[in-house]
Amino acid sequence: MKNKLTHLAIIMDGNGRWAKERGHIRTKGHEKGADVTRNITQYCAEHPTIETVTFYAFSTENWKRPKYEVNFLMKLLNAWLLNELDTYHKFGAKFETVGDIEGFSPKLQETIAYIKRETAHHTNVTQILALNYGARDEIAKAASRLANRDEEITEDSLGAELNTPYRDIDLMVRTSGEQRLSNFLLWQLSYSEFYFTDTLWPDFTPEELEDIIDQYLHRERRFGAVS
Ligand code: IPE
Ligand code: IPE
Ligand code: MG
Repeated sequence: MKNKLTHLAIIMDGNGRWAKERGHIRTKGHEKGADVTRNITQYCAEHPTIETVTFYAFSTENWKRPKYEVNFLMKLLNAWLLNELDTYHKFGAKFETVGDIEGFSPKLQETIAYIKRETAHHTNVTQILALNYGARDEIAKAASRLANRDEEITEDSLGAELNTPYRDIDLMVRTSGEQRLSNFLLWQLSYSEFYFTDTLWPDFTPEELEDIIDQYLHRERRFGAVS
């Protein structure tokens, strides 16, 4: 029996190293990486079973980067989203986010809200960008909301209170050879299958993703039971 694959999550890592290897400044890698995000979204939109693809784009820890890089990423995101609207329409992709968007500039928040509104009716795939996202932050805020309502905290009630309820992840891929979660979706990844590839994100292709998915489909997922 093949595994189901409805929710794929990707930690897009290695942009800086990709640029450095080519003698460019790090931000060149982010530009190239954004093109790859588009290609992978198209692959997911055309895939028969993938309903949701979540990309880690900016973590709550990424504010520690040099100011020029953070500014560049904010500008890139704003321009990329506006430019991407046609592609969302073309792929039938709905845009959503997870993370604390209120930490961004009003202009970027407006762009995010605009692209969400414009793509809300699409059904081929939902692309979720994790933006100013940290799993500990997400879990702590959800727990605090429940506590304020004086509700019992159970797995179900906390899971439903997260910003990504109902979205257990089947397969998580991280590029660039790093083998860690870096505070990504701790709750939703509890029983996911992991795949780590040495490929740097700007070099990642739909063909490589297809190979990874093929392997995933034949893994044995036991969820604590016996086979
Ligand atoms: C991932 O690439 C993109 C973001 C975190 C925004 P990096 O910028 O982390 O690239 P490396 O890991 O330094 O190569
Ligand atoms: C994780 O990558 C965050 C994103 C891909 C957005 P990082 O490059 O920031 O993570 P660390 O520093 O290697 O853990
Ligand atoms: Mg990195």
